[in-house]
Amino acid sequence: MLTANEQINVLLDFGTLISKEKNLDNILIIMADYAKLLLEADRCSIFLADNETGELYSKVAHGTDEIRFPMSKGIAGFTVLSKEIQIVVDAYNDFRFNKEVDSETGYHTTTIVTVPLINHDDEVIGVFQALNKVNGELFSTTDAQTLLLVSNYAASAIENTYLYQSIKESQEKLILKLSTAAEFKDNETSEHTKRVGLYAQLIAKHYGMRKEDIELILITAPMHDAGKIGIPDTILLKPGRLDADEIVVMKTHSTIGYELLDDSNTMLKTAGLIAKEHHEKYDGSGYPEGLKGKDINIFARITAIADVFDALTSVRPYKKAWTFDASMNFLQEQKGSHFDPELIDIFMKHSDDVKRIYTQHKD
Ligand code: C2E
Ligand code: SIN
Ligand code: SIN
Ligand code: FE
Ligand code: FE
Repeated sequence: MLTANEQINVLLDFGTLISKEKNLDNILIIMADYAKLLLEADRCSIFLADNETGELYSKVAHGTDEIRFPMSKGIAGFTVLSKEIQIVVDAYNDFRFNKEVDSETGYHTTTIVTVPLINHDDEVIGVFQALNKVNGELFSTTDAQTLLLVSNYAASAIENTYLYQSIKESQEKLILKLSTAAEFKDNETSEHTKRVGLYAQLIAKHYGMRKEDIELILITAPMHDAGKIGIPDTILLKPGRLDADEIVVMKTHSTIGYELLDDSNTMLKTAGLIAKEHHEKYDGSGYPEGLKGKDINIFARITAIADVFDALTSVRPYKKAWTFDASMNFLQEQKGSHFDPELIDIFMKHSDDVKRIYTQHKD
């Protein structure tokens, strides 16, 4: 048996490790490892409740792949229902024991201690289980208390991850809605925002960007004009050319968009950068900062091409739609001045794909 001192040292170690780890799966593995050590168990498993299917599934199970079984089954299921610690001294002589798990894993369970994982709303979100105390000893109530302590940590780590994920998802939805809000104001259609994403994705793909970045630009490029929600309608929807003062106001949409979107979250950070730099030009004559060449973020350099191509081929309150060919020619002429030459070459080389997006997503 571990002495009280050894136990405290293990717990301190555990606290330090957990506080440094951000990935939930890793946190749970560390917890299972420590529980195994503290309880001198042969194996530890964490089962989480899947409320949609009414099953428990193994999140961590020493030595096995994912196992699933109905929440009504086994000592694990009983722990969910009773919300209480269960200590089993002889599994095969306990009618509640779910033998199917052993037959799936080829393991032979003898002794078990199981504690519920309980969230802040006092709901059971899973169970923490230790199997087969070494040296053929039985699990004690002290073991169960120790496991409960670790399981309380586990439950809050799991809850935090769920919360974080749901915040992240609603944040992403909100942002997508936001880019649509600007689009409504501008009388631009949702096909417009979609097309800008698709053109940008096409360039990113043939530029050889990583898969995650190709997906990222598909979502973020459509938000480049989110800052237009801060521009008065009298300017934004003006049927004719803008005068010098109006142009000054109009140009602030880049910075407004950046301030609106920029955040520590990767998606928003990228969206913010695109909003800020999508009107920078390769020769340094763009705005808001007059950045030059590769100093302009790659995502923004790509979006600039997608945006202008789509603006030219679309009707605007101030202009008619240009033809496909006239728009392609214009981009080609601006290669190296407005646009990154390497990216223009990619766009031209894949004009068949550009045409496909143009045709399939017409307003
Ligand atoms: P937008 O309509 O999405 O246009 C994006 C960019 O496409 C423009 O950025 C410009 O680089 C290019 N572009 C669009 N239409 C034309 C065109 O007819 N000729 C040429 N050569 N390029 C074109 P820019 O100029 O920085 O404008 C940013 C935004 O300001 C535009 O977004 C639009 O919302 C607004 N805007 C620009 N000019 C006018 C205008 O004369 N009247 C009105 N009402 N709005 C304007
Ligand atoms: C059960 O909870 O009945 C199954 C225990 C196991 O072998 O994992
Ligand atoms: C990148 O691919 O992210 C950097 C290369 C470049 O700036 O063109
Ligand atoms: Fe813009
Ligand atoms: Fe646009």
